Amino acid sequence: MTERARVLDGPGELAEAAARSAIADLEAAVEAHGSATWVLAGGGTPAAAYRRLAAHDLRAGVEWDRVRVAMGDERCVPVDHPDSNWGLAAAALLDHVPVPDHHLLRPPGELGPEAAADAYQATLAALPAADGGRPGQVRLELVWLGLGEDGHCLSLFPGRPEVEVADRLVVAVHDAPKPPPERVSLTLAALAGTERLVVLAAGEGKAAAVARARAGDDRLPLTRAVQTVRAAGGEVTWLLDRAAAG
Ligand code: 6PG
Repeated sequence: MTERARVLDGPGELAEAAARSAIADLEAAVEAHGSATWVLAGGGTPAAAYRRLAAHDLRAGVEWDRVRVAMGDERCVPVDHPDSNWGLAAAALLDHVPVPDHHLLRPPGELGPEAAADAYQATLAALPAADGGRPGQVRLELVWLGLGEDGHCLSLFPGRPEVEVADRLVVAVHDAPKPPPERVSLTLAALAGTERLVVLAAGEGKAAAVARARAGDDRLPLTRAVQTVRAAGGEVTWLLDRAAAG
């Protein structure tokens, strides 16, 4: 298990480094397994990296027909709604790269939390099993996470019961403290099959949560996510801009 942090000057450099890290991580995963599942991060922070990776000079660096794309969490809105994480990722990246349709593992947020969670649980449960994992554990070759100023990641918020769900890969979320309130999210248990975790953070507002998570404050779901990947032998990389690195 390795853990490292890279501090980039600003959001532009962060996006560049993140896009290039995705190419290297996906290449290594495809080399190792013949294919790879990339769990994208929601929120706004990864958008610039998605756009950078979609650019002509970079996108050929990935064997997209060997990549399955999933989303760590989704808001329960139609995919063409401005709040849709998948909608954002599609506009920034997925509409511009040749991932086969059957490899686009979109969480059906429009179904509402419960139905979307059940549908997405079935989708992810069909992924290849994690090496040496417990029954039902699937392998996630690359997972990107953003974080909130309160230390939430995915749609797992501090002090909420969803953080403790251990018998599912996907959970329904109601009344989330960050709008919109209805969401579907991967669980911490799902992250136990992660081979490479990349945490992306930009801006001063994230500095306190980054510092607390790196110091091991396990009241933060982000800390628990990192601890889960570490415990499973996965690699952890923090990609931070100077402001988020404090
Ligand atoms: C979501 C996200 C969430 C996000 C953080 C950071 O759907 O809201 O998945 O976990 O990563 O809230 O969001 P920003 O990158 O927009 O600051």
